[in-house]
Amino acid sequence: MSGETAAHAAPKQALMQAADAARHAPSIHNTQPWRWVVRADTLELHAATRRQLRTGDPEGRMMLLSCGTALHHARVALAADGWTHRVDRPAGEPLAVIRAEAHGATDLAAVRLVQMMRVRRTDRRTVTEEPLTDDAVQPLIAAAGTAGIRTHVLNSDQVIELAVLVEQAQKAQAGDDDLRSETADWVGGDRPAGTGIPGSAIPAEPPQTTVAEREFPAPGTLRAGAGHDTAATYAVLYGAGDEPGDWLRAGEALSALWLTAAGNTVTVLPISSPVEVPFTRQALRHMLGDLGFPYLVVRLGHGDPEHAGPAPTPRLDAGQVVEVED
Ligand SMILES: Cc1cc2nc3c(=O)[nH]c(=O)nc-3n(C[C@H](O)[C@H](O)[C@H](O)COP(=O)(O)O)c2cc1C
Repeated sequence: MSGETAAHAAPKQALMQAADAARHAPSIHNTQPWRWVVRADTLELHAATRRQLRTGDPEGRMMLLSCGTALHHARVALAADGWTHRVDRPAGEPLAVIRAEAHGATDLAAVRLVQMMRVRRTDRRTVTEEPLTDDAVQPLIAAAGTAGIRTHVLNSDQVIELAVLVEQAQKAQAGDDDLRSETADWVGGDRPAGTGIPGSAIPAEPPQTTVAEREFPAPGTLRAGAGHDTAATYAVLYGAGDEPGDWLRAGEALSALWLTAAGNTVTVLPISSPVEVPFTRQALRHMLGDLGFPYLVVRLGHGDPEHAGPAPTPRLDAGQVVEVED
C-alpha cells in the first residue's frame, strides 16, 4: 500500500505516459499537429502549427480537431492509470492544461479504451452489407456526447445530399494547385519521417461508395473490397459554436466515438472535405436544419471480413512531441 502511494506520489510519470499514449491519436493526414509540455503535476497541450495544413486548413479547424483527439487519448490514459484530473481550457495557447488531482482506483472502462488506441485505424475499405443496428450506433452517439458534442445520423435522402456536397468539395479542392501540392507532401512524397499517410492505408482502386472517399494523389495498396457500401451509416458531429474551443471538443468527441467503435468492431472513416470547404460547410449546416455547426462527417459500418484491415500508420517519436520540464 505504502509502495503504491510512493509510486504515485508524483503524477509526472503518469502525465508522461498519457502524452505518450496520445501519440496513437488520429489526425488530419496524420500530421500529428500537437506538442505536450509535462510539468510536475500538469500536462499542457499545444498546437504544433508548423504541421498545420496552411492551404487546406488555414483556420486550423482540422488541426484543432486533431489536437482534440490527442487530448481525449491522454485523458483516457490518465483515467486508466487511476488518476482523476481537471482540464482547464485557456483561450489560445496552451489549448488545454490537464491537472492530475488524486490517484485512486483504475477506471476499467478507460483501460479497455486504452487497449483500443493501438488497434483503432482509419478504415477506407468498403463496409459490409450488414447495416449497423440502432443498438450499435447509440453507444457511439453517447460517447461523442460525453464531450458535449451531438451526432446526427443522416437519413437516406440526406446521404444523397451529402454525396453531392462531397463531390462539390472535392471538385473545388482538385482545382487548387497549392492544395494538391500540400496534400502530396503528406501522402507519399517528401514529408517528415513518422508522419503522413502510407500507401498501405490507401485503397488500390477507388472503393464503390455512395459518398466518395477522399481523393489521394496516387493509389495505394489497400484492398478495399468489391462490395458497395450501401449499408454504411453516415453521421455528422455538430455543436452550438464554431470557435477553436468547439473544434477541440469535437476532436475529443471523435476520439471517444472512435475508441468505443473500435471496441465494438465498428469501423470509422472521417470525411472532412465538406467541412474544409466553406460553401459546402454552409450547406451541411443547412442540412442539419441550422441546429448547429458541423465539425466532421463520419462513415460507420462493419469492416470487410474478406480483406485484412489497414496496417498501422507511422507516428513521431515521443521526443518530437513531448517536452519534459524539470
Ligand atoms: C480531423 C480529421 C479529419 C480526417 N479526415 C479524413 C478524410 O477526409 N479522409 C480520410 O480518408 N481520412 C481522414 N482522416 C483520417 C486520417 O487520415 C488518419 O487519422 C491518419 O492518417 C492516421 O491514421 P490512423 O487513423 O489509421 O491512425 C481524418 C482524421 C482526422 C482526425
